[in-house]
Amino acid sequence: MTTFRDGLLAGKVAFVAGGTSGINLGIAKRLAELGAKVAVCGRDAEKAARAAGEIGGDALGLSADVRDYGAIRAALEQTAGDFGLLDIVIAGAAGNFLAPALGMSANAFKTVVDIDLLGTFNTLRACHDLLNKPGASLIAITAGQADQAMALQIHACAAKAGVNQVVRTLAIEWGPDVRVNGISPGPIAGTEGMERLSPNPGMKEASESRIPMKRWGEIGEIADAAAFLCSPAASYITGAILDVDGGSSVGDAGRMDLARGLG
Ligand code: COA
Ligand code: NAP
Repeated sequence: MTTFRDGLLAGKVAFVAGGTSGINLGIAKRLAELGAKVAVCGRDAEKAARAAGEIGGDALGLSADVRDYGAIRAALEQTAGDFGLLDIVIAGAAGNFLAPALGMSANAFKTVVDIDLLGTFNTLRACHDLLNKPGASLIAITAGQADQAMALQIHACAAKAGVNQVVRTLAIEWGPDVRVNGISPGPIAGTEGMERLSPNPGMKEASESRIPMKRWGEIGEIADAAAFLCSPAASYITGAILDVDGGSSVGDAGRMDLARGLG
């Protein structure tokens, strides 16, 4: 259930890289609910077509690998050709798996850096001359790993730290015509990401106990943040990384429970 007024994004055109499942599909659905024409893109063409069907209306489901500049450029061009110049671009494609640095080949490290970091650069670089300027809003989906080192995720930590600097650099280079921001979700329930990073209920409970809000987030809560950043309500926000993480990035609330126990 959206918390924004109907038609807030009417007439807008949105492209969501990695929008064929999970958090990014939730964002794509929210943008469409608010009136935007939406294209989603992933590697798997059938999955993309299914996602477009779920979004409904005239949503486009496109296939491209964000590591391939020409392919993502072609998907962006097709979207602009079908719908018009782009107002909103979400760079959300990512890959992750748990492995220690010594259990990771150079190609394994490079694979995640290429999808997350190079893929974000490619998506944002390739869309610039197709944007409806001034007023376009670009969002990269980053993660707490950008600032908080995490064992078994040296590839994602390095990649997402780079993503945050891509956001900040483009905000400087492309202001005042284009706003560029990041959203950093905390652990979000019902996603592939958390299936991979927290595969059993014990791990979920332990992670929830450390979050100030004491729960994982919902996909809709990230979609709301994206809708906000794309809306006129965020017209003076650029270069920001918005943590939507129940306070996870602020500190470990597990210590607060210990303190309560002591009191
Ligand atoms: N542990 C260690 N290495 C791993 C691994 C694991 N769990 N999974 C993959 N790799 C290695 C592979 O062995 C390969 O390295 P090698 O060539 O030295 O053997 C390298 O990573 C690339 O694997 P490949 O399967 O060819 O990559 P891909 O491009 O087909 O897929 C992944 C990319 C690996 C990130 C895949 O998990 C994926 O498609 N993820 C998308 C979904 C996702 O991760 N969602 C969560 C988003 S946060
Ligand atoms: P997901 O469901 O696995 O979504 C990943 C999307 O990216 C899919 O659409 C996938 O489609 C696409 N994709 C993957 N590799 C691609 C490539 N090389 N080229 C083009 N598209 C590609 O993941 P999720 O868990 O919802 O995560 C979504 C985003 O949120 C990611 O950026 C992730 O880092 C971030 N995030 C997630 C969490 C969480 O709790 N889940 C927390 C913090 C940050 P194909 O497989 O068909 O390509």
